[in-house]
Amino acid sequence: MSEPSARKLIIAIDGPAGAGKSTIASRLARKLGYANLESGAMYRALALKAIENDISFDDEPTLSDLAHKSRIKIEPTLGGNRVLLDGRDVTLRVREADVSQAASRVSIHPQVREWMVARQRELGTNGGVVMEGRDIGTKVFPDAEVKVFLDADPVIREQRRIQQQHSHGASSEAMAAELRERDRRDRTRANSPLAPAHDATIIDSTSLSEDEVLLTIEALVDKKLRANTSPERNVS
Ligand code: DC
Repeated sequence: MSEPSARKLIIAIDGPAGAGKSTIASRLARKLGYANLESGAMYRALALKAIENDISFDDEPTLSDLAHKSRIKIEPTLGGNRVLLDGRDVTLRVREADVSQAASRVSIHPQVREWMVARQRELGTNGGVVMEGRDIGTKVFPDAEVKVFLDADPVIREQRRIQQQHSHGASSEAMAAELRERDRRDRTRANSPLAPAHDATIIDSTSLSEDEVLLTIEALVDKKLRANTSPERNVS
């Protein structure tokens, strides 16, 4: 790997739920000494606030108003991102199934996305960030230096998610159904649907280990850092 002191990049990792984005993004960010921003956690925090305030997930103006009045903070820790909503730690609560579905539902609204995208751009503007989500390479940072679309077979993604969530007490069938429903919504919404950017590197992690995925992305980062710091290498 190149030294972390080299010019700091924006690294976008997009893909569906269960593809392994969060783990990879957080490991990569730690290795590079970059910030790790999990954009889905921001949608989850807003969705939780909507649930708590009994706001319909279809009420775009009120959801947008709610977003503007919210303070959502994502703090990377060794065990994953800590999520703060108006100063309250909601890290565990936002992972629950009702919030996952709600996040997918509130995220279809253009006004909500506009607010989220603006916040995410502020957070990544100086580079040195690994940002993961659904629209980072297509919308939030279309000029990101490294773009990865991390995918995996749906059955494998369901199995991974079920393993992760068993400790939270959800049934396997419920988890699989939740994931399928969210996938369908995230891919078919009109505004910034989940899709690879035209210049993203697509990595299918179905039969790859976490380490193998990480190595693949590290190689892309390394190549970019070398190209940026040594332009003469590109001449021939
Ligand atoms: O990454 P996640 O599973 O925590 O995201 C939860 C939901 O938030 C996801 O189903 C769709 C939405 N989301 C989005 O629309 N755009 C993003 N960049 C990240 C998440």
